[in-house]
Amino acid sequence: GPELAAVVANRTVDVPDFPKPGIVFKDLMPLFADGQAFRTVIDGIVGHYPAGFDVVAGVEARGFVVAAAVAYATGAGVVPVRKAGKLPRKALSASYELEYGEATLEVHEDAFIAGQRVLVVDDVLATGGTAGAALDLVERAGGTIAGFTVVMELAFLKGRERLAPREVHALLTV
Ligand code: PRP
Ligand code: MG
Repeated sequence: GPELAAVVANRTVDVPDFPKPGIVFKDLMPLFADGQAFRTVIDGIVGHYPAGFDVVAGVEARGFVVAAAVAYATGAGVVPVRKAGKLPRKALSASYELEYGEATLEVHEDAFIAGQRVLVVDDVLATGGTAGAALDLVERAGGTIAGFTVVMELAFLKGRERLAPREVHALLTV
């Protein structure tokens, strides 16, 4: 609700011209560094999924922070969706476009038991390229998407539209 959104807004720091000129970087680490605010964020995510989930998939790197906490809070397992070349066993790959060039995410092909309900989490939804790749990978690996949550959504980049008809839950949309 609005209180949760205010916690996120108040603890997020805008960093102009990072990582390049003209980009305003949304730094959520001050939010995560505040123990009370971090717990509020994690509890807010958990509370949005009363039907639960079996596994939380976190997107490297900043999604890992959220994923492990949500998993621990609910007794779910946690699975990493990693950047290319990091996983030791046979993996599925999905590429997505960046402003310049391409990036690739991977997940172990045996990461999920068929039909496991998977909550996919990340810190920020921007263009939706990362999320689209992560959601595809989870499904290709046999998981059933229970939901997709981010702490902050940047609406002007239209990630939500790109991911439609999939549902996106954001604690704060700016
Ligand atoms: C950032 C952010 C999201 C993604 C959102 O990750 O943590 O994962 O970008 O952007 P998109 O919606 O346009 O794809 P980044 O790729 O910078 O890597 P990091 O999490 O490892 O810092
Ligand atoms: Mg990221």
